[in-house]
Amino acid sequence: MATNDQILLARAHLASARNVTILTGAGISADSGVPTFRGADGLWRNFRAEDIATPEAFERNPRLVWEWYNWRRELIATKQPNPAHDALVKLEQQWADRMWLITQNVDGLHCAAGSQRLSEIHGNIWKVRCTSCGVISENREIPLPILPTCPLCHALLRPHIVWFGESLREEDLRRCNQVIRSCDLLLVIGTSGVVYPAAGFASAAKDIGALVIEINLDSTPKSNLVDLSLQGRAKDLVPLLL
Ligand code: OAD
Repeated sequence: MATNDQILLARAHLASARNVTILTGAGISADSGVPTFRGADGLWRNFRAEDIATPEAFERNPRLVWEWYNWRRELIATKQPNPAHDALVKLEQQWADRMWLITQNVDGLHCAAGSQRLSEIHGNIWKVRCTSCGVISENREIPLPILPTCPLCHALLRPHIVWFGESLREEDLRRCNQVIRSCDLLLVIGTSGVVYPAAGFASAAKDIGALVIEINLDSTPKSNLVDLSLQGRAKDLVPLLL
């Protein structure tokens, strides 16, 4: 568990930072009851990503993929932002254009809490994208009809999610590069740090001399690289830092 001294040190670092970038992963939403991917009850323990989270899987069996996303939408719809999400909104209000939040989460809980200076680099489960005309729209229907179609061109809609084997959107990549290069403090919350490009952000920030602080329930492959690793629940630790 993080000690008081570690928390005080992290607070001091944050207080003296000029530009802060925050990277979050499934661990921040775990405290809201959203399952992580690689934990003991993680989604990838029970489902094969190759069957439901790749463009090939969608081409092969869009029905199965939509059933899975409908199940996840039903589950996430019952969840609320927790004190860690709320604390990051306060940080944004205080820091304005000196902070940016990058999340790998697709659950929309940062948006629901009120975060605006935010890149959802893996997409958003409440958005759909047309496989033909590419139009992205918000859609909160639960369940979505299996094999939903585009209201404009009637082609098949897909979840607006970045699947394995797909690249981040240009605009998100550009923004990530910019906020990682310009920060002097990177706060990494609740991610296992194994999925790229986000898994490379901590070392990229270190390369330009930024300080990196990690908050995670456990140690991660990045714990030895970061300047300060705080172990504990995001919902307890994040509000203490801010
Ligand atoms: P993971 O499931 O890989 O990792 C979750 C991390 O959160 C682990 O390191 C846990 O130790 C930590 N954790 C769990 N509960 C926590 C809590 N209450 N407080 C703090 N930390 C906690 O999830 P991600 O790293 O987000 O991609 O996974 C990255 C990507 O892999 C996801 O965005 C997803 C997945 O495939 C897509 O869906 C495209």
